[in-house]
Amino acid sequence: MPEHSICYLNGRMLPLDQAHISPLDRGFLFADSVYEVIPVYAGKPFLLEAHLQRLHSSLDAIRMSNPHSFADWEDILTRLCSLNGGGDLALYLQITRGSPVQRRHEFPADGNQPTIFAMVSELPSPTNHGLKAITLEDTRWARCDIKSTALLANVLLRQSATDNGADEAILHRNGLVTEGAASSLFIVKDRHLSTPQLNHDVLPGVTRNAILALAEQYGLPHSCREIHIDELSNADEVWLTSSTKEVAPVIEIDGHPICEGRPGPIHESMRLWLDKLKEES
Ligand code: PDD
Repeated sequence: MPEHSICYLNGRMLPLDQAHISPLDRGFLFADSVYEVIPVYAGKPFLLEAHLQRLHSSLDAIRMSNPHSFADWEDILTRLCSLNGGGDLALYLQITRGSPVQRRHEFPADGNQPTIFAMVSELPSPTNHGLKAITLEDTRWARCDIKSTALLANVLLRQSATDNGADEAILHRNGLVTEGAASSLFIVKDRHLSTPQLNHDVLPGVTRNAILALAEQYGLPHSCREIHIDELSNADEVWLTSSTKEVAPVIEIDGHPICEGRPGPIHESMRLWLDKLKEES
């Protein structure tokens, strides 16, 4: 049996190749669903409470109730990790508005059950050598704060980055940077860390929040503010953060080197602070 093959579907732990979902599922037909990606270190989901809190907010935003208590989620997710051998993993979970008998845009009638799915996969090793990025107009919808599986724009933007030999697309709207296609963005200028403030244009990244808390803890000046697209090329350092990338330095944007094409010293400190937090958790 392949590695990481046990998944969770609607109350059952079963092999991934035996997990079946109806083609009428609203996640499939409408992307009417939300998700989370949670890093797992040594079998333990990292910053689980923050991820479950964001899941709860995403469900609220799409007018679904949370099918499980935090304690039940913790039990399901840690059991799933241990059934898959523990260690370092990327935990994925998704909740859709279920599979009613007909395709209709409006919500199904009361009594419809959500589809609840979770699986694990390999956690990629953190990228410390540096990422290349390109800048692109943010073509996503107006509620990027919801962690929805409606990711077609993100997919097309990331693919444009790939087609251009880059690792990530850094997005901007009306001249202001929002975030990466699947990551949050930070810049460092004169030892001051900045990230775009939270609004409907950005996802409240759990890693972003942890980075801000570490900056606070270790006395690194920081702010959440509007970042103009022109600030990227003048930044001393640019980072992209996510649950799977952790904190990754950007060394090139639109073909121009950032920080002389090397990870910067503040990144190095943040990397160590984050590693310490992971060890302590
Ligand atoms: N994505 N912004 C977007 C648009 C994202 O998709 C992600 C993460 C982030 C970072 O959020 P967090 O730090 O909570 O992972 C920001 C995940 C990893 C994904 O879709 O695979």
